[in-house]
Amino acid sequence: KPIVLSGCQPSGQLTLGNYMGALKQWVSMQDDHDCLYMLVDLHAITVRQEPEKLKQACLDGLALYLACGIDPQKSTLFVQSHVPEHAQLAWVLNCYTQMGELNRMTQFKDKSAKNASNINVGLYSYPVLQAADILLYQADKVPVGEDQKQHLELTRDVATRFNNIYGDTFRLPDPYIPEFGARIMSLQEPDKKMSKSDNNPKNYIGLLEEPKKLAKKIKSAVTDSDEQARIYYDPAEKAGVSNLLTLLSLATGKSVESLVPDYEDKMYGHLKGDVADAVVALLEPIQQRYHQLREDQAYLNEVMREGAAKAQAKASKTLAATYDALGFIAKP
Ligand code: AQP
Repeated sequence: KPIVLSGCQPSGQLTLGNYMGALKQWVSMQDDHDCLYMLVDLHAITVRQEPEKLKQACLDGLALYLACGIDPQKSTLFVQSHVPEHAQLAWVLNCYTQMGELNRMTQFKDKSAKNASNINVGLYSYPVLQAADILLYQADKVPVGEDQKQHLELTRDVATRFNNIYGDTFRLPDPYIPEFGARIMSLQEPDKKMSKSDNNPKNYIGLLEEPKKLAKKIKSAVTDSDEQARIYYDPAEKAGVSNLLTLLSLATGKSVESLVPDYEDKMYGHLKGDVADAVVALLEPIQQRYHQLREDQAYLNEVMREGAAKAQAKASKTLAATYDALGFIAKP
């Protein structure tokens, strides 16, 4: 089976963007792939986190992965900091990544612009840690949203460089980006992506938000000033409306083409109402499962323990091969 690896940061409540771009794909890949899914807490501290909130966000994320349908019997589900090999391999890869390469990363530019008071070295080398996450497991495919494409290309470049010097050590991964839904946009600013750490909560839908509250957010989403309020799909010209159509399509499983004719004589308000209903219908059962799972700390502990052990067994092999290739003396 091809190996799949992916993760989300516990840097806030997971959003509908994270679900559509990542989690939905993760669930669908479990049967015919060997999947590893993690909560990347080492990545989360590239932005300042409050310790207690980080801990809770990690447990929330774990329960949410399970509630969305990640099955620990089929997939390896773990917390990144429980497997120290991630940080160890990241150090090695730092020495095989050029600053010029990292300077080109658009996520670093965006995040440092948003966070000018804390542009730390970890934020800069975030893509190197991500490369380590992927290469440690010899992943074939990495299901991600569109925003991560550039990081995947860097991972391949660094792996190729290392392999060329030391012989085949890492498998080259391919990004697996859904054709549709890979970039869910912000509700109030539909020209930028929906992000869980957005300062304005009206911009995102948290997967755990109360149905009434999330419906209200969708109903106040920004559309456009087209006087005829035409509803059709054109992300460049009609970013807000296209985002709503995307959400409706993904939440109902119907194609955009089949949905658009229904709105020929309707107003934006109609579309928003339908999107709100569809998103609530999608999230309500997930939220119910989440609340049951979140109460069961013993079960969550068991999932984390088993996941970390399974992941570490694989990661340690790649790290040992890497150290050997580099010429590090084995511990006698
Ligand atoms: N808006 C989005 N549309 C589709 N996919 C998305 N992803 C994120 N936002 C969207 C995908 O979710 C996965 C996990 O992302 P992450 O938590 O590692 O970090 P991120 O990409 O930086 O996501 P956020 O929500 O924007 O987090 P913050 O605000 O903390 O930086 C990835 O596969 C990503 O592509």
